[in-house]
Amino acid sequence: MSQDAIENWIQRVTEASWPLVQRNGPHGWLLKQSIFTHFQRLATLLAMPWFQTLSGPVLDVGAGTGALSLDLAWRMGAQGRVTAVDRDAQALEIAHALAGEVGIELATAIGDANALPAGDATQNLTIARFLFQHLSAPAAALAEMRRVTRPGGRIVIIDVDDDVMLCEPAGLPHETALRQAIRALQAQRGGNRLIGRQLYRLMREAGLVNIQVIVIPRVQLGVQNGRNAEAEAYQLERLRREREALIGSGLMTAEEFATAQAETEKGFAQDRFAMEAEFVATGLVPAA
Ligand SMILES: C[S@@+](CC[C@H](N)C(=O)[O-])C[C@H]1O[C@@H](n2cnc3c(N)ncnc32)[C@H](O)[C@@H]1O
Repeated sequence: MSQDAIENWIQRVTEASWPLVQRNGPHGWLLKQSIFTHFQRLATLLAMPWFQTLSGPVLDVGAGTGALSLDLAWRMGAQGRVTAVDRDAQALEIAHALAGEVGIELATAIGDANALPAGDATQNLTIARFLFQHLSAPAAALAEMRRVTRPGGRIVIIDVDDDVMLCEPAGLPHETALRQAIRALQAQRGGNRLIGRQLYRLMREAGLVNIQVIVIPRVQLGVQNGRNAEAEAYQLERLRREREALIGSGLMTAEEFATAQAETEKGFAQDRFAMEAEFVATGLVPAA
């Protein structure tokens, strides 16, 4: 795959997404996140041997507004048959509209990760990106992914582990406290931002074979290329979305939140090295 082809694809999706960002309220934020992380998402996928030889049918579970589904469908071209599944009908409507805008075939199906809208052993690949960190019963969702994947087919889970964070110079104290509070908030909601390290065990217990967990670093390098006002606004918006919940649940006071927000803004101007990581776990359903 040439660099030109990749850059062209990113540009097509970006141009199709921006008009939808303005119109789609809370989903506008997810679309924006998809735009700002498109290169990282593709870099992760392109590093995966299975991505090079992908063919449908493919089920993308917790597909949201379809960022990953579209990348998969684009990669497979005529070989592909991707279905984006989410319990949020509005997100899927956006995914459908976006697919139309970029001229990619994408099926959508409303459904819960615990009861997937697909028959037994029907999928070549079942994949979930940034879904497992939200689930209170990840083993049940993985069992469902296994049910719909054919023997010899692949299951992929891409997610975070919040403990993997390197920063030089180190994060300011309130910024670090904010990160921990967001992790605690997600736990209160039944999720787990430390899911990355658990993916191996989950896949073993689900009876998958040939399991691999590949950790892909995501590095941000200071301000050598100047600052990006849109990316900074997006990060602040991400924080503000959680403000009421963080304060309401007692995880932070309004003052602590304000200080953490100010420190985050200060961090934008800092010429620092920061590294997080994506955990990509893959396993096969044993051949019958
Ligand atoms: C952070 S978004 C990730 C979207 C997309 N996979 C991506 O990589 O951009 C998480 C998505 O999971 C969906 N979700 C959360 N719990 C779910 C469940 N139990 N069943 C189906 N979808 C779920 C949410 O509606 C949301 O669209």
